[in-house]
Amino acid sequence: MSQSIQTIEWIIPAVQTVHILCVATVLTSVLMIDLRLLGFRRREQPVAAVTARFLPFIWWPLPILLATGAVLITAEPARSLQNPVFLLKMGLLLAAAGVTLACQIPLRHNPAYWELSAGRRRAARLIAAASLPLWVGIVFAGRWIAYAQAG
Ligand code: HEM
Repeated sequence: MSQSIQTIEWIIPAVQTVHILCVATVLTSVLMIDLRLLGFRRREQPVAAVTARFLPFIWWPLPILLATGAVLITAEPARSLQNPVFLLKMGLLLAAAGVTLACQIPLRHNPAYWELSAGRRRAARLIAAASLPLWVGIVFAGRWIAYAQAG
């Protein structure tokens, strides 16, 4: 499989294109939610409305990123699997997913959760302040894999 992917020249650019389009979708959605949590954008819209609109565009591209990432790994397994930057990227991804869930889960029980008190609004700002660097860090690590020494 690895050799086939390497031999057919258009596969890697095509898969990378899908990977990058999904990255753009995820990062745009993260930015929209985080700017609302930070209070910079659309303050007239409740946090729950903004998350309802954009959270699906964070979660749904993730299986596609996983599938396209798996194809890229299959093409050159050592390049990623023996690369500490790839491990860093996966660690950051788990942390970013955890922070996103920390924002999402309380809203299931109470859509006004993050707006109920000054303390909650502060906690929401902390979540946004952690989320943005984590997602940007994943993009940075994704690009860095190509330049970091494998093994
Ligand atoms: C879900 C699991 C994921 C896997 C298994 C995965 C795997 C990979 C692999 C193997 C590469 C190629 C690295 C190389 O050889 O140069 C890559 C590139 C990249 N990934 Fe992912 N990835 C995943 C999720 C993500 C996410 C969530 C983001 C950002 C939100 C992301 C951003 C990037 C970027 C920016 C690149 C560089 C693309 C390029 O230079 O063409 N990846 N990924």
